[in-house]
Amino acid sequence: MKVMVVGASGMLGSQVMKLLGKNGIGFDLPDFDITDFDCTTATVKSIKPDVILNTSAITDVDYCEKNRDAAEGVHHTGVRNLAATGIRLVTVSTDQVFTNSAGNRYLLESDLTEPANFYAISKLRGEKAALEYSENTVVRTSWLFGEKGLLPWIVGKLLGDGVVTAVVDQTSCLTSVVSLAEILVGMTTDKDKTGLYHCVNKGAVTPYEIACRVRDRIGSGTVKRTEWAQLALPAPRPVWSALGSERDIKLPPLEEVMELCLQKML
Ligand SMILES: NC(=O)c1ccc[n+]([C@@H]2O[C@H](COP(=O)([O-])OP(=O)(O)OC[C@H]3O[C@@H](n4cnc5c(N)ncnc54)[C@H](OP(=O)(O)O)[C@@H]3O)[C@@H](O)[C@H]2O)c1
Repeated sequence: MKVMVVGASGMLGSQVMKLLGKNGIGFDLPDFDITDFDCTTATVKSIKPDVILNTSAITDVDYCEKNRDAAEGVHHTGVRNLAATGIRLVTVSTDQVFTNSAGNRYLLESDLTEPANFYAISKLRGEKAALEYSENTVVRTSWLFGEKGLLPWIVGKLLGDGVVTAVVDQTSCLTSVVSLAEILVGMTTDKDKTGLYHCVNKGAVTPYEIACRVRDRIGSGTVKRTEWAQLALPAPRPVWSALGSERDIKLPPLEEVMELCLQKML
């Protein structure tokens, strides 16, 4: 099994590469750019992978809001270029295809999307490009953390300054890259896992609630509340985008992966 991993130097991509070992062949900027159709086609032809696993993205949603061509290029054109190679594609998307301010329930694969910002609009277009081919797989996830990400950032702030300011008006699910990478690697060998999947460590939380839990676990520190409007950032954030799934894949619960991360960091 030969898996071509795109975005291999990123947070999720590097974890996937670790798990794949000699079965993984990693590609990333600046040597490989999925927005370049000729480069993508030629590279795939010469590598002849069994599967392409795409973890590439521009995850700075404010940058995407202001640089729409760049976001469209990586999240839509790039995914379309990978799908057009005819090799089975597993590609990663986002909970931000939902805003669902009225919902307040776990959002399923069959729920109607309502992108929160341009990052999500471009990711949704990429999903559609991938799913034009019945053998492909799209995995939506949210708030990834490994050595970086929201949870380590909160822990770092509380251990360092002793103070963290976190928003109260966005609810989603944290997801460990370790949990997600295991699922993605499993999908590369299982040709029946096609179509759309929601993969998160279940447990709907706000960043403020996560920070309070970490403070209680550490036993010290101050958590201050804020709201997105006070931060005046370019991209709107979803109010509620906690993912659930009606499909056959389950990740460990949030409490379990949070505790593992905290044990490593404390
Ligand atoms: N991080 C989150 O909280 C989160 C939440 C929901 C969904 N996701 C999704 O999960 C996936 C993995 O995210 P991540 O946090 O691991 O992202 P990441 O750490 O930013 O890694 C993404 C990688 O893709 C590369 N890349 C960007 N444009 C490219 C291009 N045109 N061609 C080839 N490679 C390119 C980046 O290179 P440069 O660094 O040089 O730009 C980077 O190495 C993405 O699909 C993301 O949308 C992430």
